[in-house]
Amino acid sequence: MSTSAPVVSLNGVRKTYRSGSIEFEALRGVDMEIAAGEYVAVVGPSGSGKSTLMNILGCLDVPTEGSYHLGGEDVSTMSEASLAHVRNRRIGFVFQQFNLLPSLPAWRNVELPLVYAGAPRSQRRERAARALERVGLGDRLENRPGELSGGQQQRVAVARALVTEPDIILADEPTGNLDSASSEAVLALLDELHASGRTIVLITHEHEVAARAGRNLTIRDGLITADEPVLAGGGR
Ligand SMILES: Nc1ncnc2c1ncn2[C@@H]1O[C@H](COP(=O)(O)OP(=O)(O)OP(=O)(O)O)[C@@H](O)[C@H]1O
Ligand SMILES: [Mg+2]
Repeated sequence: MSTSAPVVSLNGVRKTYRSGSIEFEALRGVDMEIAAGEYVAVVGPSGSGKSTLMNILGCLDVPTEGSYHLGGEDVSTMSEASLAHVRNRRIGFVFQQFNLLPSLPAWRNVELPLVYAGAPRSQRRERAARALERVGLGDRLENRPGELSGGQQQRVAVARALVTEPDIILADEPTGNLDSASSEAVLALLDELHASGRTIVLITHEHEVAARAGRNLTIRDGLITADEPVLAGGGR
């Protein structure tokens, strides 16, 4: 067991959504810690709070109550501008819908987080190309998303998530729009990234996918109801 401080630490996190006079408590007191290098899958039924949790972990939203420390920094009370900075520096996102810009070639999509991070122009193409090589797309730098298969597009999105060397890669149903062969390629890539020391948090409703992680967190009605290691041989 690692004795270093956790990358993620949530304490008593609650999230209440308000629509007019109606309130809904989507997270009702979540405590969790994730250590550096862990691969965690979050599972749970539709509406249980998975994306709400992911938005908070990814600094896209803040808790209504409770605290969130990311890499030792208290991000639960930060301003929107500071959050944007932390997000860019520490988090790589992979979404179900890829979220690539259709008019830009693959390498330009991958370099975007570096543009936001203020990396010098002279380094950006080189770093984007390296990230694309990492995901097996070194020969597709100039292709636009529309010229790539769904699985290749998702690998471009993984390259974009990696290029800043973030503390955590957050993936919300990354295989939700892929056929089984492309899903396998993306999951194999996540396995490799984990093996090379990355911290990964994956949301999925597929138990087969969750079994590839080292640890499964189950969320139900806004609470973590199970936190279990995946037994060796589960998925690999
Ligand atoms: N902006 C919002 N305003 C009001 N209620 C919301 C809002 N966003 C989410 N909710 C509610 O919070 C609950 C949790 O939603 P969330 O999107 O986190 O679920 P989920 O576990 O990701 O579900 P799925 O598997 O369907 O993606 C749901 O009941 C949802 O209706
Ligand atoms: Mg969701």
